[in-house]
Amino acid sequence: MGKVTVADFQSRKEQGGRLVMLTAYDYPMARLVEAAGVDAVLVGDSLGMVVLGYDSTAPVTMEEMIHHAKAARRGVERAMFIGDMPFLSLRGSVQDAVRNASRFVQEAGCEAVKVEWKTGIEDIAKAVVDAGIPVMGHVGLTPQTAAAEGGYGVRGKDAAAAARIVAQALALQEVGCFSMVLECVPDLLAQEITRQLRIPTIGIGSGPFCDGQVLVTYDLVGLFERFRPKFVKRYADVATTVRDAAVAFAQEVRSGTFPDAAHTTAMAPEEFARLRQELHLP
Ligand code: KIV
Repeated sequence: MGKVTVADFQSRKEQGGRLVMLTAYDYPMARLVEAAGVDAVLVGDSLGMVVLGYDSTAPVTMEEMIHHAKAARRGVERAMFIGDMPFLSLRGSVQDAVRNASRFVQEAGCEAVKVEWKTGIEDIAKAVVDAGIPVMGHVGLTPQTAAAEGGYGVRGKDAAAAARIVAQALALQEVGCFSMVLECVPDLLAQEITRQLRIPTIGIGSGPFCDGQVLVTYDLVGLFERFRPKFVKRYADVATTVRDAAVAFAQEVRSGTFPDAAHTTAMAPEEFARLRQELHLP
């Protein structure tokens, strides 16, 4: 199987197969999700909350994103590798945003970038597409601006809000986005957007009718414990595994059972005596 491209995303939509995307922020996790055969690895700005411990994604800087993307890049071969443009990367001029998108490509080897909806994002997305960088859009719940928009709940439950989200998705498609994340919208609204868009939709908390699904890997494997969104299914309990291992290590160190013979390089006393002499140790 060859490298996953924008054309593969589109043909998946046309042929009815489901796209799979997961997040990664470092080399070992990127290698693991790549080995699982996902279609895309996203260096999400969820980095800020699940790895860097911030209260939201808003403070994440370009430097932090590039640093983590460079590490994750080394673990990805086949999957499409996508960098998430953080809030701060989109606050300056359109030219600044294009420069930041280019950094993802040139410094971190990204093959596409993702942008969350905000006022004026169509101009930025168009300029980035025109610069030759594929852009994934993101509508519905947009965590970078969620606090200002009343929190992290489901979006598009009334007609006006639903119409806004449809219009945003169509606008981003119009300026050339190759795919669209739909976050936290009701299932039938996601189905309708998926029907209206030519490009594939990738749902998170938006039900089964999207062209693909994405989750934050730290949620999926149970490594991020601070809160769990309703839509997250945990496929593993890695936090418990890590905590149990650390507790066992601490117990064995304190009781003197680690390190044991199997984990020690033993030296014969005569050999050490010779070493002492050579080193003129008292
Ligand atoms: O930042 C992120 O991880 C994301 C995905 C959840 C889509 O935007």
